[in-house]
Amino acid sequence: MTFHIHGLDHVQLAMPPGQEATAREFYSGLLGLTEIAKPESLAQRGGVWFESIALKLHLGVEGDFRPALKAHPALLVNNLRALTMRLQQAGVAIQTDTPLAGIDRIHVADPFGNRIELVEPTPQPLPEFRINDRHRLRIPTARDADELFRTVDANRTYLMQWLPWLPAVTGPADSRRTIEAGLRQFANHQGFHAVICLDEQIIGSIGFHGIDWNNRFTSIGYWLAESDQGRGLMTASCRALIEHAFTAWNMNRIAIRCATGNRHSQAIPERLGFTREDVQREAEWLYDHFVDLINYALLRRDWTNGATRESHSSV
Ligand SMILES: CC(C)(COP(=O)(O)OP(=O)(O)OC[C@H]1O[C@@H](n2cnc3c(N)ncnc32)[C@H](O)[C@@H]1OP(=O)(O)O)[C@@H](O)C(=O)NCCC(=O)NCCS
Repeated sequence: MTFHIHGLDHVQLAMPPGQEATAREFYSGLLGLTEIAKPESLAQRGGVWFESIALKLHLGVEGDFRPALKAHPALLVNNLRALTMRLQQAGVAIQTDTPLAGIDRIHVADPFGNRIELVEPTPQPLPEFRINDRHRLRIPTARDADELFRTVDANRTYLMQWLPWLPAVTGPADSRRTIEAGLRQFANHQGFHAVICLDEQIIGSIGFHGIDWNNRFTSIGYWLAESDQGRGLMTASCRALIEHAFTAWNMNRIAIRCATGNRHSQAIPERLGFTREDVQREAEWLYDHFVDLINYALLRRDWTNGATRESHSSV
């Protein structure tokens, strides 16, 4: 019988008896948490329970109360700067600590002396990859939605040959949703989807279908506008993402799946030294028929042994 701890249900802090009003002033009044009623069976013990979207913070009464000076909850904050100002205006002492990459944080003490850490992840700079003097990969933002839709729409018939998602892209709003999903994917450390740009023009897309950190595995998908094919651009773009996945994320295995009839796409993993592992029969529905998919994979050791450095000079 296996079990799996999959998250934190609540945090419990201690407080001295009869100080519920003071607790409310701080946790609701200053931190903005919503008080919820304690279950009937526990109400007579005193204390207060607070909640917000993904947080349950319980304060329980302890007779011989002593503040927790080291052990502490770290609460995630949107706009830590504003909360810090509010706490300072309320006379709460703000302690800063050793800076940590990717987060802003402060420490405060609640009215009972319990240590509280307030944390805000700092937005990560969106990666960008220069492919050559005119081509680069970048993560699109909402302002790219119209142009991305136009590029998809202009290539709809050709892309429908091998890609199943075209009917879901009927207007810029759909492209905006795709872009927002990509930004959430990036924020959640699940890889990213980039647009391929010729100068400032969006001519295609390439990205990761998520990251399996336990098995250090990811997979790549891509498409290019019909008029930009045949110049090795996607091969070079794939190489940039492979390099990033092996170096920045320490991946061990990268996969690409292509339909058995899609020679142009198969040529890319083959050119890049991937191993053709197997064929999954009727693995993808393309509008009115199933296609078999070939699984290609590249291992870190293949790559470190120079498998990816194929004969073509850079584009
Ligand atoms: C799959 C797809 C991206 C391939 O595009 P592509 O232009 O053939 O791929 P590349 O950009 O790597 O270019 C390789 C071609 O450029 C040529 N080339 C020219 N200069 C090159 C260079 N410096 N380096 C590599 N190739 C070069 C190669 O000979 C090759 O041409 P060939 O296929 O006629 O032999 C494109 O066809 C596409 O978007 N298709 C529709 C969507 C799709 O199928 N997506 C994949 C689903 S699995």
